[in-house]
Amino acid sequence: MAAPSPPDLCPAACLTAVRLIEIAPATWSVLIPMMSMDKPTILVTGGAGYIGSHAVLALEAAGYPVVILDSLEYGHPELVKQHLKAELIVGSTRDRALLDDLLSRHNIGAVMHFAAYIAVGESVSAPAEYYHNNVVGTLTLLEAMLAADIKRFVFSSTCAIYGPPKTLPIPEDHPKNPISPYAASKLMVEQMLQDFDQAYGLKSVAFRYFNAAGADPEGRLGEDHQPETHLIPLVLMAALGRRDNIAIFGTDYPTPDGTCIRDYIHVSDLASAHVRGIDYLLAGGDSAFINLGNGNGFSVREVIETARQVTGRPIAVVERDRRPGDPPSLVGSGDRARDLLNWHPQYPDLESIIAHAWQWHLMRHGPQN
Ligand SMILES: NC(=O)c1ccc[n+]([C@@H]2O[C@H](COP(=O)([O-])OP(=O)(O)OC[C@H]3O[C@@H](n4cnc5c(N)ncnc54)[C@H](O)[C@@H]3O)[C@@H](O)[C@H]2O)c1
Repeated sequence: MAAPSPPDLCPAACLTAVRLIEIAPATWSVLIPMMSMDKPTILVTGGAGYIGSHAVLALEAAGYPVVILDSLEYGHPELVKQHLKAELIVGSTRDRALLDDLLSRHNIGAVMHFAAYIAVGESVSAPAEYYHNNVVGTLTLLEAMLAADIKRFVFSSTCAIYGPPKTLPIPEDHPKNPISPYAASKLMVEQMLQDFDQAYGLKSVAFRYFNAAGADPEGRLGEDHQPETHLIPLVLMAALGRRDNIAIFGTDYPTPDGTCIRDYIHVSDLASAHVRGIDYLLAGGDSAFINLGNGNGFSVREVIETARQVTGRPIAVVERDRRPGDPPSLVGSGDRARDLLNWHPQYPDLESIIAHAWQWHLMRHGPQN
């Protein structure tokens, strides 16, 4: 009688499978759970940065070996060293020779690409830098991946590609009208990903984040951008006394309290979505563009008030005119992330997001530092 075939195995387990065929079928049930631990190595670009480092933490917790590529223009190598197992390779996605060497030395199964310049305002005054780093850098990386026959890619896109919303919550098929070079650079990469799928079979998930916020609930990692432009860390710096006040730009928007509403998504929830994105692609999932938000908006005043409650500290406010290009409300539809990845935010409430960020800020920027 012919020996029964082993059950279907994921590509990562192929080598183990070859060895398995020589083993008696009765022992498969013992070995299959061990094989599922045999996950492919993920290359994480920008893994020393804010969101990338949280994604590495989540990948490692899920059993994926990780290699980080980060130029360290903005990353924090001391946090990688302290809290992550991953090897950190210092270099740029724009360096093709470095990429070829890295991909030939490590057996990479998929790439998670966070590396980019992220300051919207700066992209308006220095668009060449942004197109070079975010578009050319990504193209160089994708070409190196194709040369190494790696065809699974998770990309950090942004809700900024939608421009001023025509419907709320914003669905993925909303028209795309980026109003900054930063947002345009992300939309260009999304276009590349569609074309690369069609021509080369490169499968990708592009996550369009709304406002990433919060910090690892265990306090290991958090947000530390230089310069900082995001509302929650700025509010917490005011609570720490490291800023005199926080400015509210526009108090006459058509929202319940007159201030802008944004969708804040906990960074650990973003990270868990990325692990699901990798699982999905490695299981043979098709390319997808997916919003990652809370589905819930919070106004600037709500953020400041919640921060006062969480920190127990006074936070002075100055009211300023509206900034050009700020839509009154930006909230994403989370239907596709739920349907395709069965992903649900674990920390959708503003209190948890701010409490975790505060714990991190006290450790990182508190009086002892
Ligand atoms: N923070 C947000 O709210 C937000 C929202 C939407 C999208 N995103 C996207 O998420 C990604 C990560 O954002 P973040 O907030 O963690 O930013 P970050 O600046 O903390 O991290 C980016 C990291 O990439 C590195 N880097 C930049 N260019 C590089 C290159 N060419 N090669 C190698 N490393 C490079 C930097 O040194 C940094 O460590 C970015 O692509 C950003 O556009 C962020």
